[in-house]
Amino acid sequence: MKILVVDALQYAQVAVDAVMEHILSTHVPEVIGFATGTTTPPVYELLARRAADDRAVKKKIDTLSVFNVDEYLGVAPGNPGTCLSRMKDQLYRHIDPKKVICFRSDASDPEKDSLRVMEEIDMAGGLGLQILGIGGDGHIGFNDPDMPWELETAVVSFSDSSRVGKAGFWGGVENVPKQGVTLGVKGIMNARSLMLLARGESKAEIVCAALEGPVTTGVPASVLQLHPFVTVVLDRAAAAGLKRRNS
Ligand code: GLP
Repeated sequence: MKILVVDALQYAQVAVDAVMEHILSTHVPEVIGFATGTTTPPVYELLARRAADDRAVKKKIDTLSVFNVDEYLGVAPGNPGTCLSRMKDQLYRHIDPKKVICFRSDASDPEKDSLRVMEEIDMAGGLGLQILGIGGDGHIGFNDPDMPWELETAVVSFSDSSRVGKAGFWGGVENVPKQGVTLGVKGIMNARSLMLLARGESKAEIVCAALEGPVTTGVPASVLQLHPFVTVVLDRAAAAGLKRRNS
């Protein structure tokens, strides 16, 4: 695991450099997985700017397929609260990916739709890099604490506290959908590379638990300790509790 600890102002740049290093080094078609939240948008903004400013970067990005790690259920795909709408707004409409692969937020059979998504990922070359944020309770995607780790994808019924945590994206907890669908922990671990992004002191404790504590389903992000190719980008505040770091 490579842990990069940087000043808050350099955080997006270092994350984008690491994404670019991955993208430019792949010579086969593949899928890059993205995650929504409040941590990732500055990274996507800079990635979109790099693609706009550098033809070689844009050409390379155009050969890739993109994927959203999770999605809400029971809402129209065009609803501004969906992960797809947010990713379109923050990144996809600024680049021209070969294919956008996503769980359908209005799927009548989300389990069946998940199988379609996994097939599309396979046909597009497999998940080369999955970018992740980390929730305050250690969740990755919509994989909440104590969910089983052997699922490739999972349909999740959100707990009340989980819906409270998502309220900001939906203009109030009453508007937060009751269910979502996510790449499961097994699906995440099948990605060839992973990147975890966290910033701010509110993440310091959970980052420490995930990266240096026991590997346990109680802290879903702790599973990353078992993956061979993980890059973690943290600002100094989020890294404050760590003993080990590479820079
Ligand atoms: C949501 C997303 C996750 C993301 C997490 C982190 O729950 N479903 O994919 O990792 O938020 O959020 P934030 O970046 O706002 O801390």
